[in-house]
Formats: sequence, structure tokens, C-alpha cells
Amino acid sequence: MVKIIKAKDYNEMSRKAANIISAQVIMKPDCVLGLATGSSPLGTYAQLIDWYNKGDIDFSQTKSVNLDEYRGLSHDNDQSYYYFMHENFFKHINIDLANTHVPNGTETDAAKACAAHEAVIQELGGIDLQLLGLGNNGHIGFNEPGEAFEKETHCVDLAESTIQANSRFFEKIEDVPTQAYTMGIKSIMMAKKILIIVSGEAKADAVNKAFFGPVVPQVPASILQMHPDVTLVADEAALSKCPL
Ligand code: GLP
Repeated sequence: MVKIIKAKDYNEMSRKAANIISAQVIMKPDCVLGLATGSSPLGTYAQLIDWYNKGDIDFSQTKSVNLDEYRGLSHDNDQSYYYFMHENFFKHINIDLANTHVPNGTETDAAKACAAHEAVIQELGGIDLQLLGLGNNGHIGFNEPGEAFEKETHCVDLAESTIQANSRFFEKIEDVPTQAYTMGIKSIMMAKKILIIVSGEAKADAVNKAFFGPVVPQVPASILQMHPDVTLVADEAALSKCPL
């Protein structure tokens, strides 16, 4: 059963999501957080930074692993997820950078990069709380529609619609990488708790399909219905097509 928390708008969604993450860090200071990129979690990170600055959260023992990374972008490329995490979260809090792990997009040997990331997750003892966004086409991480559910971290060819959607962050569409390393559905499903955040009407169809439709690989997020501890925090616009 997916627990659904309705928020008024993006800001309220971000606060509620940050509350859940902060509760996790307070209850288990040395927890392993699975982190995500994209515009959905930006407000959540901003809220956590604010609470950190007020002295309410301490990340000194917290560890993190990231969901995905573009293949071939260097760490100082401002579109790499490595750069995103440092700019939007890590550099503002007291997490030990040695405890943060983003798949290594600079490693061109895909098998090596993916096996290394999966090994990190195992060494850390698994993920306590995995934060997820939702792609317009129902993807999570970079697990595109039609992918097998049982995969661990692997290299993917991005769907044309994902390249289009993410091109808004790049100067021109040709600059968007066509491949990425992503934790697979299996890696995601192994997390003890999952928190998925969704905002905006453009995602309304995807939310409805993912949480109220059949569990099928064509809608990767639909597998979350099978996880024992999933919380969806979504705003009214994102939930507007759900039979609630
Ligand atoms: C990207 C990321 C996903 C993210 C999704 C939605 O493709 N790989 O992890 O959840 O897009 O992004 P946004 O939150 O910007 O809508």
C-alpha cells in the first residue's frame, strides 16, 4: 500500500518531504540516504539546508548514494549530477564528502562504473531511505519504460522523451548525453523506505498510471506498488488525475 500525502503546491511538497528525510536522519544519524536529482528535489534540499543552518539537523554521520548520473560528463560539468549534488546540497551541509557516492560518469567503462556503484550500496549495508522523482513517462532514476524490473545499476540509452525533457537544462539538445548509469529497479526496490515526490500537472498522467494502474515495465514507477514502505508526497496538480 502506497501512503499518499497530498500537498497544496511545490513548496508544501518540499517541506513535507524534507520532514520525512529529517526524521530519518534524526532517528538514525548514520543512515544511508538514496538521493535524487532533477527539479523535483531542489526545494526539499533547500528546506533541509535551512533546518541544518538553524541547527536542527546534523548530517555529520550520514551517508548517501545517488540514483543516477549521465555517462561521460565530467564532475565540473554543471549538468553532471555530481555537480548538481555538490552545488544544491552537499556544500551547504556538514555531510562528509567521503560518505557521498554518485555513480562515476567519468568512468567510460560502463560495466566497471555500475558494478562499483552497486558494490558501494552493498558495503554501506543498503539504503535506509530512497528519495525519488518521477519522469514524465513514468521513469524512476533513468529506468526508462520497458526495462526489466530485476536490474541493478546499469547503463541505459535515454528515451527520446527524456532527452527532450532534460534538454531544458542544456544549451542545446545535442549537448544532452544519450546514455546514463542508473540504479536499477531492483536496487531501488531493495531500499528499506522509499519517498517519491511529484509536482505539477505535467506529471498527473504518470502519477495516475504509476500508482493506480497495473504494475507493468512500460510504467517503471508502477513497481513501487509492490514495495512495503512507499510514501508519495505530491501536490494537488500532480494528483489531479488520480481517483482519490
Ligand atoms: C531525470 C532524472 C530522474 C528525475 C526525473 C524527473 O530524468 N534522471 O531521477 O526524477 O528526470 O525530473 P524532474 O524532477 O526535473 O521533473
